[in-house]
This record gives sequence, structure tokens and C-alpha cells, in this order.
Amino acid sequence: MEKGLKWSCVAVVVAFLAMVHVSVSVPFIMLHGITAECSDDTNANFTQFLINLSGSPGYCVEIGNGVLTSMFTPLAHQAEIACEKVKQMKELSQGYNIVARSQGNMVARGLIEFCHGGPPVYNYISLAGPHSGVSFIPLCGLKSGPYCKQFDEIIKGNLYSDLVQDHLAPSGYFKIPTDMTKYLESSKYLPRLNNEIPNQRNSTYKKRFASLHNLVLVKFQDDQVIVPNDSTWFGFYPDGDFENVLPAQQTKLYTEDWIGLKTLDVAGKVKFVSVPVDTSK
Ligand SMILES: *[C@@H]1O[C@H](CO)[C@@H](O)[C@H](O)[C@H]1NC(C)=O
Ligand SMILES: *[C@@H]1O[C@H](CO)[C@@H](O)[C@H](O)[C@H]1NC(C)=O
Ligand SMILES: *[C@@H]1O[C@H](CO)[C@@H](O)[C@H](O)[C@H]1NC(C)=O
Ligand SMILES: *[C@@H]1O[C@H](CO)[C@@H](O)[C@H](O)[C@H]1NC(C)=O
Repeated sequence: MEKGLKWSCVAVVVAFLAMVHVSVSVPFIMLHGITAECSDDTNANFTQFLINLSGSPGYCVEIGNGVLTSMFTPLAHQAEIACEKVKQMKELSQGYNIVARSQGNMVARGLIEFCHGGPPVYNYISLAGPHSGVSFIPLCGLKSGPYCKQFDEIIKGNLYSDLVQDHLAPSGYFKIPTDMTKYLESSKYLPRLNNEIPNQRNSTYKKRFASLHNLVLVKFQDDQVIVPNDSTWFGFYPDGDFENVLPAQQTKLYTEDWIGLKTLDVAGKVKFVSVPVDTSK
């Protein structure tokens, strides 16, 4: 929570600038991270702070019941719930912006790419999103909540099993670069979200993602939860390699433009923002 709050403080400035720059009247939604909920102090305050600063109407959109849903509902289903919610929000019918934090970015991208018949998303501000996956298992971040350790152990042991994929949300964006075959076969979320599976690439997902007006990717330099931290900018390890991280522009996702990231970047619509370590801590 403390870390979340500190992040908010820094991130808010960036998010605000990006958003106001584009439009003051477009509403935004906020999607929180794992083990959090819209009504907790951090997220309620963060949403309100963004509303205050941007002058735009904003809504923290809750998926299911918050904390437990964020941990145990598979992301594909979380994205469906979010899709139904935004379709029902009259305030968003003319289109909206998204601000998402950590795991909330997996839901955000599901909304953008998969939500058939939903209102258009104009600008998307991603705060520490694990876009290319994570390869390390500090699921509950560096917090040590009651079930964190068990949670981590279960995921580690059977990452790509149906049992884990169907019941633990973060398994949907775990990607072990030395086990790509299993990942592509059995991971139920990220391969589809990133259009990674050869012969199953869906041009609709790409078209939708590429239609964003602006994509702001914020990376926190002291992020120890997302490994590799370049994943927040769509960088990742090359297949079979656990050591050298490729910057986004050298990944196949980018060079072959699987989801339109290159299209957006070439059009000058992607901002890669790095927020420095907060030394005041
Ligand atoms: C809300 O956020 C603002 C700005 O980050 C901060 O100054 C304030 O202390 C926060 N309040 C609570 C209750 O967390
Ligand atoms: C937002 O603005 C209202 C009214 O000015 C103020 O009472 C509230 O403390 C502000 N909240 C945050 C989180 O900045
Ligand atoms: C791509 O996804 C859309 C929307 O989910 C679906 O209607 C379409 O059949 C898919 N196309 C392919 C080629 O899989
Ligand atoms: C972030 O990634 C860079 C390069 O991969 C690495 O050198 C650095 O230690 C990472 N930072 C943290 C806090 O893990």
C-alpha cells in the first residue's frame, strides 16, 4: 500500500499531463492492480486526485468484488466483466481514456483489444503494466500478506496447468522464456493478448489497439515486482534466454507488429516514460 501511494504521487503528475494535453472533457476510467480494490485508500484517493487535477470525470471501475477477484478470476474473464461494465456506463458512450496500474493493465488491454461493441478508448496511460509478461514470482509484490507465499508456490509449481491458469489471475501473464512451447500452448491470456501464437494472430485485436490516439507507458525505475522491468515498455527476454532483455523495438512483437505497437510508435503516438527512483522515501 505504501509503495502504491508513493507510485501514485509520482505517476499522477505524468498521467495528468498526458491526459490534459489531449482532452479535458473525455472521461477516464481507472483500473487498479492485484490485491487491491477501488474503495481502498490508495485507489480511492488516486482516482479522486486524478479527477481533481485533470478536471475530467473519472471512475474507478471495479471488477467483481475487488481484492479476491483480482487474485483468483482469470484475466480473460476479468476483461469480459470490464467490457460489460463499460458498455453499461452511459458516461462513457462517446469514448473514454484509461489509466491502469500494474495488473490492471492486463484488464485494460483486454478492454481495448477484445471488447466487441464497447465504446472507443482514446488514450491509454499504463502505469507499470506487465505488458510482455513477468518471469519471476513475487506475486504479492514485496508484501507478505497471509496467502502470498502459498500463492507463489502453487503458481511456480504448475504455472501452465489448467488448474492454475483457471484460478490464479497472474498466471495469465507469466512467461518463462526458456519454456516457450508450453507457454504458447497453455497460457490462457497473454499469448492471445499479444497476438503471439503463429497462425492465430487476430487482425481485429491489432486494429483496435492501433487505433489508440495516445499510448503512455510509464515505467518505475525502482520496480522490483515486474521482472524484467522493461516489460512495462513491452521489452522482454528473447526466446530461450533468461539474461538479456530486449528493448521493445527489438522484440518480434514490435518488428512484426503483432498488435500495432510499431504502427502507433511510428506515428509518434507512444510515449515511453521512465519515472525515477523516489529518493525521498
Ligand atoms: C491522497 O493523495 C494526495 C496526493 O498524492 C496525498 O497528498 C494525500 O496525503 C493522500 N491522502 C490519503 C488519505 O491517502
Ligand atoms: C479533491 O478536491 C476536493 C474538493 O476540492 C477535496 O476536498 C479533496 O480533498 C481532493 N481530493 C484529493 C485526493 O486530492
Ligand atoms: C478475431 O477476433 C474477433 C473478435 O473476437 C472474432 O470475431 C474473429 O473471428 C477473430 N478472427 C480470427 C481470424 O480469429
Ligand atoms: C530494471 O531493469 C534493468 C535492466 O534490465 C536492471 O539493470 C535494473 O536492476 C532493474 N531494476 C530493478 C529495480 O530491478
